Amino acid sequence: MRRRRLLFSLLLVAAAGMGTAAVPPQPAAAPAATPLDRVVPAPASVVPGGAAYTLGEGTRIRVPGNSGEARKVAGYLAGLLRPATGFDLPVTTKDGRDGIVFQLGGRGTGKLGAEGYRLTSGGRSVTISAARPAGLFHGVQTLRQLLPASAERRTEQRGPWTIAGGTITDTPRYGHRGAMLDVSRHFFTVEQVKRYIDQLSLYKINKLHLHLSDDQGWRIAIKSWPKLATYGGSTQVGGGKGGFYTKDDYREIIRYASSRYLTVVPEIDMPGHTNAALASYAELNCNGQAPPLYTGTEVGFSSLCVPKQRTYDFVDDVIRELAAMTPGRYLHIGGDEAHSTSHDDYVAFMDRVQPVVAKYGKTAIGWHQLTGAHPAKGNVAQYWGYDKTSAAERAQVATAAQNGTPVILSPADRAYLDMKYDKNTPLGLSWAGYVSVQRSYDWDPGTYLEGAPASSVLGVEAPLWAETLSTSAHIEYMAFPRLPGIAELGWSPASTHDWDAYKKRLAAQGPRWDAMGIGYYRSPEVPWPAK
Ligand code: ACM
Repeated sequence: MRRRRLLFSLLLVAAAGMGTAAVPPQPAAAPAATPLDRVVPAPASVVPGGAAYTLGEGTRIRVPGNSGEARKVAGYLAGLLRPATGFDLPVTTKDGRDGIVFQLGGRGTGKLGAEGYRLTSGGRSVTISAARPAGLFHGVQTLRQLLPASAERRTEQRGPWTIAGGTITDTPRYGHRGAMLDVSRHFFTVEQVKRYIDQLSLYKINKLHLHLSDDQGWRIAIKSWPKLATYGGSTQVGGGKGGFYTKDDYREIIRYASSRYLTVVPEIDMPGHTNAALASYAELNCNGQAPPLYTGTEVGFSSLCVPKQRTYDFVDDVIRELAAMTPGRYLHIGGDEAHSTSHDDYVAFMDRVQPVVAKYGKTAIGWHQLTGAHPAKGNVAQYWGYDKTSAAERAQVATAAQNGTPVILSPADRAYLDMKYDKNTPLGLSWAGYVSVQRSYDWDPGTYLEGAPASSVLGVEAPLWAETLSTSAHIEYMAFPRLPGIAELGWSPASTHDWDAYKKRLAAQGPRWDAMGIGYYRSPEVPWPAK
């Protein structure tokens, strides 16, 4: 391909040299470069102007200085762009003013914080500056979106690979921008999880919450209680064969997520949603009898045996092993829909389990029902209510927030990616109503939970429950196009929030998803370009 293009250029030059008679065919006018503000999530500040920069055969990616991490991010960018551009894009530590330049630390980067970046494009170079490698990585995601969508294809494409001139200065609104994948109701392989991680990172999501246990399956190997995975993980909704992650699998997910600047937040849901554990070990049951494995989709029927000491041996072992293989700060302990646990037992259970998480050096996140117990100082409540959640329940969460419990917002009728878009959506559930693309985008995390101080909001998370989902295609149809909207609520300043502007930026992502092989829902609310 490259050679053919060169030949074509030579012919053009020859034809031009022949002078007068034949006007050589003009190549079709190059499409205008993507405007610098046509990015999702919307950047905090954009100053367009000046000459554009075009990648070419000789473009180098410069990482002056000697940061191994910055070099890795540069290598990742080169790996993304080589197939479609056909360019070598060598990564070099040699200083220079041309090409794609990474600047880590140094003048003016202090204000960019742990995740921010500045991208300056013009003339001979595009420079991405950041205080930390995560900022470089997020800058790379912006750079990707400024290139034509065809840059995402894995075979050589026609350029030009032009980036408009100007400067983007960008830092996130919230430090916690999560996505949750339910690998319990249906099991997803390490490869499927990695594929989702890659998609999440394009929108600057920085937390991957894995829902590792539920009634239908236990998905993580625990050495001291081996049957949890080998038996408790042996099926899934509908009765398929299920599966689980070995410790090495889990570490590989963490390694891959961390290469994309996402931190894994593992969840063991307790004391409800525990049938898979109860089925694996009779001794965990109050009556000493193991129930059968469960492959349906009901909730609220299972509970750990709160009065029994053996329950806390189990909890201690599981949390100890999970904490030991999890570098991130958070362990999620569930706590939702414990309809088969009395209130007193629920409170007693949470009073005993939260200190175990602390003992192993982690901070607990619980679904917002934790605020009905005694959330320990620093532990986090994840709000998943919706428009029919009672005022009393909301007030309970808001009061906890006023008293210092930080909150992650995942309102089910906005942020749940498994809710159907409308009545015709073939996948998903609808207990929180239909969640259109506009509905999922059009809310403000800063003011959403009445009575909760804005400062209590750590950020947002988009959960994807998998009762009806069993393939990557299913995940992608539900996540796209809503996931980028939640990502934008987490990243972009409230001042950029505007559905009419957003839907145009979102529409421009469609060809990118086509190029990446993401089968998204072409919602009629979004002005997609014709295919
Ligand atoms: C939940 O949806 N039960 C957290």
